[in-house]
Amino acid sequence: MTRKPIVAIDGPAGSGKGTIARMLADHFGFAYLDTGALYRIAAHANVNFDEITNLSVHDLLKIAADTPEDVLKSDIVGCKASDIAKLPHIREVMTQLQREFVANPGNEFGGSILDGRDIGTVVIPNADCKIFITADPEVRAKRRWNFLKITNPLLTYETIYQSIVARDEQDQSRKIAPLTCDESYVLLDTSADTIDMSLAKAVKIVRVALSE
Ligand code: DC
Repeated sequence: MTRKPIVAIDGPAGSGKGTIARMLADHFGFAYLDTGALYRIAAHANVNFDEITNLSVHDLLKIAADTPEDVLKSDIVGCKASDIAKLPHIREVMTQLQREFVANPGNEFGGSILDGRDIGTVVIPNADCKIFITADPEVRAKRRWNFLKITNPLLTYETIYQSIVARDEQDQSRKIAPLTCDESYVLLDTSADTIDMSLAKAVKIVRVALSE
C-alpha cells in the first residue's frame, strides 16, 4: 500500500503559513499539525526532557488545546520556544513526535500537512509537496502586531518588528535544523496577497505536486 501524501510547509513567523496550512488541510481533508505549538507548549509549560519522552504527540496537543490561545501564541512564548528549539535533545524528541503524527494521522484523513521550520529539511525530507511560505519582515510584523494587540493593546509595532527580526535570525542561524529553503521547495511569497489569494496559490501547488 502506498503511504498517504504528506505536505511540508516551512517559513518564518508571521508569513501566514499556519493559517494557510490549516485551510489547506480543510480543503484536502488532511490532518494538520502545527509543530510550532509543540515547541511553544514545551517552552511555556517548562516541560522537561524526561516528561516529553513520556508524552505522545496527542498528549502534547491536548495540553496545547487546553492552554489559552493568547498565552500560547504570545510573543514571549514564541521567543522562549525559539530558545528551546536550539537544544539538540528537544529537537530530537520533537522530530520523533512529528513523525509519530504522520504515521498515525487518523483513518479519516487522506494525508497530513505539517508546518514549522524544518519539516521539509529534517522531519519529513521525502514529503510529497514542500512549500516555503514567506513575506517581507515589515508585513509579517504588521500581521503579528494586528493579531497580538487585540489581547495586549500596549504592544507596539516596533517591539514586534524587532522581535520578529531577532527570532528569524535565531531560527535561521542555529546549528541544528535551521530554517532554510532549498530547491526542493516551491516558494510562496504572501507579502502582497490576501489570505484567499495565497490559499488559492497554495492549493494549486499542492494539486500539481500530488498529481505528479
Ligand atoms: O511557528 P511558531 O512561531 O509557532 O514557532 C515558535 C518557535 O518554535 C519558532 O520561532 C522556532 C520553533 N520551531 C522550530 O524550531 N521548529 C519547528 N518545526 C516549529 C517551531
